[in-house]
Amino acid sequence: MAGTIPREFIDEVLAYTDIVELIDSRVPLKRSGGNHMACCPFHGEKTPSFSVSQPKQFYHCFGCGASGDAIRFLMEYEHQSFVEAIEELAQMAGLQVPKVAYNNEPQKQAPEQFELLDQVSNYYQHQLNHHPKSQQVQEYVKQRGLSPEVIKTFGLGFSPPGWDNVLNIIGAGDQKKIQALFDTGMLIKRDEDGSNKSSNSSSSRSPWYDRFRERLMFPIRDRRGRTIAFGGRILGDGKPKYLNSPETHLFHKGQELYGLFELKQALRKIERILVVEGYMDVVSLAQFNVNYSVATLGTATTAEHLQKLFRLCDDVFFCFDGDRAGRDAAWRAMNNALPAIKPGKQARFMFLPDGEDPDTLVRQKGKAGFEAEMDKAMTFSEFFFDNLMQQVNMESLDGRSKLIDLSKPYLEKIQEGAFQTLMIARLSELAEIDLGSLYPLLGIKSDLRASTAKGKSKSFNNNTGQASFSHTPNGPSPVKKAMTYLLQHPHLAEKAGDPGRFASLEVADMGIFMQLLDLLQNDPHLTTARILANWQNSEQHQFLSRLAVEPLLIKDEQAIRCEFNEILQLLTRQNQQQRFTQLQRKELQNGLNTLEKSEYLQLLLILKSG
Ligand code: UTP
Ligand code: MN
Repeated sequence: MAGTIPREFIDEVLAYTDIVELIDSRVPLKRSGGNHMACCPFHGEKTPSFSVSQPKQFYHCFGCGASGDAIRFLMEYEHQSFVEAIEELAQMAGLQVPKVAYNNEPQKQAPEQFELLDQVSNYYQHQLNHHPKSQQVQEYVKQRGLSPEVIKTFGLGFSPPGWDNVLNIIGAGDQKKIQALFDTGMLIKRDEDGSNKSSNSSSSRSPWYDRFRERLMFPIRDRRGRTIAFGGRILGDGKPKYLNSPETHLFHKGQELYGLFELKQALRKIERILVVEGYMDVVSLAQFNVNYSVATLGTATTAEHLQKLFRLCDDVFFCFDGDRAGRDAAWRAMNNALPAIKPGKQARFMFLPDGEDPDTLVRQKGKAGFEAEMDKAMTFSEFFFDNLMQQVNMESLDGRSKLIDLSKPYLEKIQEGAFQTLMIARLSELAEIDLGSLYPLLGIKSDLRASTAKGKSKSFNNNTGQASFSHTPNGPSPVKKAMTYLLQHPHLAEKAGDPGRFASLEVADMGIFMQLLDLLQNDPHLTTARILANWQNSEQHQFLSRLAVEPLLIKDEQAIRCEFNEILQLLTRQNQQQRFTQLQRKELQNGLNTLEKSEYLQLLLILKSG
């Protein structure tokens, strides 16, 4: 979308903006010489090294090096996107962002709706302390332990009893306003909801009535702090416990997160974000200074939610009840999270003790205790595989292969890259299957494999022009095929080179293949029969005998040699890949020592160059 705002417009916005004024309203500045100074908002410091230059319209911190123009400042300080920052500056300058830049942006369609919802919110906030019947709500708030500060931060309010408060006080008999209040979900039209609840109230003649009555109100704000919807909690028991604004063109539950605006206001640097289920959880956590939580709005976490959060920080924690319902909700969140995980981003899952929610837990344990619980959160892969493993018997081969089947549809959804590689590597460990065989089973190509295949066709196929059999998923494994050639053409061993380059590859039959190769490299003139004699009394005799009589598709001596060498190259490549994945995993878990690092880099170069 950034590209859709013309450069000239950006220049114009900047020309109308005074960076000193912009920053000063957020970080009070002191004049010092030609500059304006403050303690840097981007890193902690006691003596000011953050300077803003009016002539240059530029800020710079001599301490941490942060610097930029007005747009950059809003992006960094308010965590806005480029487009958001321009929108805000344009608004301050009274300029219209050119139409092309808007993509279902509600602001232009409905400034009066935002205005009205803000009025409603202010009205509710005022009623919390001033309505004649506000005693009950005040007691309720007190009983829930909410401080005046946190009430103010989150703009909590009270929708008083009665069917026509918002209708009359905010709607004020103005048909346009009433329609707008209806469009934003604050009013309900009688005949439309099918009921006639307030037919004997004083406003029975009006077709409209207030959606929220006698509830503790939680305004839901968008990224700029504009109220777009409400959640209302009943005071005490009763149903529904929470009433929410419906979906409107200002409010899309799948995109908004309760508390995100407040979080961005509270924090300059966002280290991590905790996703919880309830309004009250967010507020209560904030009161205990766990001020980095947000709540989904009665819906499962969506990929859109997560993308939003990953734009702000690298670590997202999901918090769920420890019960079955919580586990199910976590699984849904996991499923939605899959496509949103990108390099460097982590999602973790935290499960609460039975009967607790974040609100009760933080009240019990305080910030430190709560964060200690967070530290125990499961990693994505732990949560994922633990869940699937509960559905199969990991003791049996069958169960382990079922684990692969169960994982497949999920692993396919992950973006290619380190995270997918790690998940697949973990699956290979758990299912006790080598990576080389696992990838084809999953039908997933890794970067590395793709480049391997390319390099291979370059370096070998031009010799024979023969298509390689070693990649057909249902044919014999490369190792078996190599043994077949060796058994029928033992002299191939002479030029097989050092077996060490593939010896540690974890695939089926590798052990016996190495024994065979070793035997023939010591004595290349053995006949097939004499080779088999070495396994005379072993279980593997029959296996090898079968390979020894397997008809070969290729008869030409030269082509067989090429094919055999090609298989060894393939195994070498797979071995490098396997080693690379091992090192990659170790790097992420414990880090690598110098030797391992150089091995890692070497492998990276080899594998990437194909
Ligand atoms: P919970 O039932 O877990 O409530 O609902 P809670 O957050 O612990 O609330 P308190 O502590 O009893 O006040 C979690 C979330 O599910 C949605 C709301 O978004 C709520 O915050 N919900 C719940 C509804 O939308 N409607 C309901 O009737 C109940
Ligand atoms: Mn609760």
